Order: sequence, then C-alpha cells, then structure tokens
Amino acid sequence: MTIAPHGGTLVRRLIAEGALPEALAEAESLPAVTLSDWSVSDLDLIAIGGFSPLTGFLGSRDYQSVVHEMRLQNGQVWPIPITLPVDRELAGRLKEGQSIALRGPDGTLLGRMELAEKYTYDKETEALKVYRTTDPAHPGVARLLQQGEVLLAGEVQVFRRPPRAFPDLPDDPAVTRALFAERGWRRVVAFQTRNPIHRAHEYILKTALEIADGLFVQPLVGPTKEDDIPAPVRVRSYRVLLDRYFPAGRVILGAYPAAMRYAGPREAILHALVRKNYGCTHFIVGRDHAGVGNYYGTYDAQKLFDRFGLEELGIVPLKFENAFYCTRCGGMATTRTCPHGAEHHVVLSGTKVRAMLARGEMPPPEFTRPEVARILVEAAREARAAGD
Ligand code: ADX
Repeated sequence: MTIAPHGGTLVRRLIAEGALPEALAEAESLPAVTLSDWSVSDLDLIAIGGFSPLTGFLGSRDYQSVVHEMRLQNGQVWPIPITLPVDRELAGRLKEGQSIALRGPDGTLLGRMELAEKYTYDKETEALKVYRTTDPAHPGVARLLQQGEVLLAGEVQVFRRPPRAFPDLPDDPAVTRALFAERGWRRVVAFQTRNPIHRAHEYILKTALEIADGLFVQPLVGPTKEDDIPAPVRVRSYRVLLDRYFPAGRVILGAYPAAMRYAGPREAILHALVRKNYGCTHFIVGRDHAGVGNYYGTYDAQKLFDRFGLEELGIVPLKFENAFYCTRCGGMATTRTCPHGAEHHVVLSGTKVRAMLARGEMPPPEFTRPEVARILVEAAREARAAGD
C-alpha cells in the first residue's frame, strides 16, 4: 500500500489527450495571462498532483489562512501560498467568473483557469510570515517584491506539461508511486537538494538508507537563484555519485520541477508534503534546509516540524545534524557521533567552495568526491570561457 497523498486524493489537472485539440481551439480566443517561469512550474506541480490537494491557485481566504496559520481553510497543513500574481493593468481587464488562458513565457498555451477571484495582498506581511524577513536581498523576498500586485485565483485545467529538461528522470507523482510499488518499497526516504551531493549529503543519505527500503533522490530542477550551480551540472554530479557509490536497486534519481523559494523552515514543510505526494514515507531534513544566507537558524526547519502532528503531516521527518569529515575519526560524522573538536572537522561554506571552483581548484576529497569535484571544476571552467 502506497502512502496516501496530502488531502487523501492525488490531484490530476491534465486534460485527456483526446480532448486536447478542442480545448486548445477554445482557449485560443480567451483573454490570456502570460506566466513567469515560476508560475509555469507552480502550474505544472498542480497539474501532476505534486501540490495535492491544490487544484488551482489559492483564493484570498486560503491565502490568508496559509500565510498566517500555515493551513488551508479546511485545516490541512499548507505552509507556502501558491499564487498567480499579475500586474494591476492586466488584472483590471479580467473579470471574475471568466475563463482565461494560461500561456508560457514563449506564448505556448499551457492551460486555462476559471477566474474565481482576483485580490490584492500585502507583500510585506507575506515576506515577514513566509520568509521571516522583508530584506530585498533575500532571493525569495526579492521575487515577491518584483511580482504583480494582484493575485488571480481559480481552478486550473492543464493542456500540456512544460518541456522537461531531464526526460529520463521521473518527476510525476503517479509515475514514482508506481515505481515504488513495483519495487515493493514500503519505507521510502526522500531527499531534496539544490546543490551537488557532497560527502555530508552522501553520509546522511547512506545513514537513512540503512533503515529504508529505498531512497528517492529528488533534486529541485526548477528556477533557482543566479549563483546556485545550474541543474544540468548538478544532475551530472548526481548521476556519477549514485552510479559509483550507491546500490542501483535501492536508489531512484528523480527530478522535482519546482522553483526554489529559499523560505527555510516553511519550505521544508512544503518539500515534505510534496514528497508524500510523490509516494515517500520519510523526508530528510538536515542543517538549514532550504535556507540562504543567515536568515534562518541551523535547525529552525527541523523545529517547525514539531509544531504539527505526525498524522496531519503524514510523512516522517528524518532529522540530521550538521555532518562533516572528522580527521580524528577518519570518517564522516555529526556532533551526535563525534567527540572531537571543530578544529578536526573539514567544513567548507558554499561561498568558499564556489570561490575554489572559480579558481579551477578541486575541493578536498573529504568534502567532495573527486568524481563530483571534476564535474564542478569543468563546469566552472566552461562558464568562465562562455563569459569571456
Ligand atoms: S536545500 O536548499 O535543498 O535544503 P541542500 O541541497 O544543500 O539545500 O541540502 C539538501 C539537504 O541536505 C537538506 O535537508 C539539508 O538540510 C541537508 N544538508 C546539507 N548539508 C548538510 C550538512 N553538512 N549536514 C547535514 N545536513 C545537510
């Protein structure tokens, strides 16, 4: 028996292929909204049920409840508002009750929405509640401040998924649920990441795998901030690491087509609920999950899980402390398992690693496997060459 999706039913808002020609012809003449790459990825996750139980973009009552209570109106846990922002001028031309076409940035018809409501909102409150800061230097807040002043809400019907950058990596909850069932996996641990897999990640993955039937490594491949390592480079590094250091039958590499919000604790809850929809029973939450800069405490994300009952989350967080290589232990450890002082620990900040890569230097093997380091150094070199 696969785990129940959030809200009990796996949502599917993709229309049947047979109905597509007529739906497209009809939508052609509807007033259209052009979606940002962010909204395209939100729409995709609604379409495939990654965001179950959402069937569209949030209305004002759900929006307020999510921002202030981390719950939908019906009481279900939901930590981050999934909204469709547009500017005032466009909103002024649309009427509630009307059908509107949803188009991708290149004009492709992606779906339609029954516009139930359009409403204004307070960006500062959303920033403070969701991101715990109004600092425009925070990438999630920056995007919120730039987006339109009016939110459109309503149920969606989706005609087609946007093109997938990694078609061989499963990213559809219906598909991953079937894969896990086929393999007879009951205890499935999910791993979210937006970085290359370093030794610390590998250590917590393997520790989790000791008590799991299978591991679903599901890197986020949607929009990220400029200086994050691009998804194609990361995916290359995941492939080589999993190929060489993990038992093939016990790990599945997938893709999570979402945008990264950098909302720390709240995003950790979202990541967990979404992975439940993908069919996972456990979710890894390590140090500063989905964090950026110094906006969140190292274990704030883990603490937020304690605010909810396990039954209402429906997926078990697997919490890990900061992992590192300890030269005295001669292996990977965390403060829970290592008695030695910090001076024996090999710890490198993301900024330091990026600087090393930019100089063409390999990070030490205690930090990154050489196979992964080579991919990163090579990618940094190509990026420099392209920029010259
Ligand atoms: S995240 O934004 O997707 O959370 P990242 O890819 O760095 O970023 O982390 C993926 C997961 O690994 C998160 O759960 C994070 O908390 C955890 N993690 C990252 N580095 C460490 C570490 N050194 N020790 C323990 N957990 C870590």
